[in-house]
Amino acid sequence: MNWDPTQYLRFGSERLRPALDLLAWVPAEAPAHVIDLGCGTGNVTALLAERWPTADVLGLDGSEEMLARAREGASGCRFGRADIATFVPDRKPDVLFSNAALQWLPDHRRLLPRLFSLVAPGGVLAVQMPAMDQAPFRTLQREIAVDERWVGALLHIGRVVPILEPAEYWDLLRPHAAKLDLWETIYLHALTGPDAVLQWAMGTSLRPYLDALAEPERSAFREAYAAALRPHYPPRPDGTTLFPFRRLFLLATAPG
Ligand SMILES: C[S@@+](CC[C@H](N)C(=O)[O-])C[C@H]1O[C@@H](n2cnc3c(N)ncnc32)[C@H](O)[C@@H]1O
Repeated sequence: MNWDPTQYLRFGSERLRPALDLLAWVPAEAPAHVIDLGCGTGNVTALLAERWPTADVLGLDGSEEMLARAREGASGCRFGRADIATFVPDRKPDVLFSNAALQWLPDHRRLLPRLFSLVAPGGVLAVQMPAMDQAPFRTLQREIAVDERWVGALLHIGRVVPILEPAEYWDLLRPHAAKLDLWETIYLHALTGPDAVLQWAMGTSLRPYLDALAEPERSAFREAYAAALRPHYPPRPDGTTLFPFRRLFLLATAPG
């Protein structure tokens, strides 16, 4: 999938908040080696480098567009290209951090234990993932995709597999962890501008659909999705659109 760093950063402060909430709870004092997996535009990677100024901080991502933005903007860190599904670090990180990236990958029953096994002894796997599979924001994308006007062009887009229930991550990781901390937060993002939830989706989950369509279907698909969203996310009297967004947080500490 093609990422558009500018569209992604349009709601930069709302997207940053969960990363800060995760970072605040990472129980690591002075890690030597930190990896930001699925680092995107690198703005969170730079915060990892700020929190642990003596650490070697490496941001890894699969998108050259995102990495180009990261290399321009983030100082004090290194960046490289890697596929999270197959990545194996040269040196086990003391902190393996991943904000809003693992939800794009399938098979979490294998992925999460694998990633945790890559962490150094005493180190931490820190993960935040949206849990929005059943929200209208996502269900409407799937419903509109089967419209006969474009279903042929969209058939190849597989459904992003929903993340697991929190208790499943507990069962997967607890036997291997010295400590495990899981929590969920529903943020009430206050978005501004017309069709704000559409604009949010255009930075992430709507991209595979839009990338697969040519004009005029692309615009027609986007308009059909925008119209379907409006009754679910009506603007308040002051013009703000409240966008409830559920996210799962996970901190797993490896035995020392
Ligand atoms: C929603 S962005 C989050 C970026 C960043 N972590 C942040 O908090 O701003 C998701 C990122 O995950 C990356 N990504 C998705 N699947 C990936 C994979 N299999 N391997 C590497 N990166 C991947 C995308 O390229 C994208 O930059």
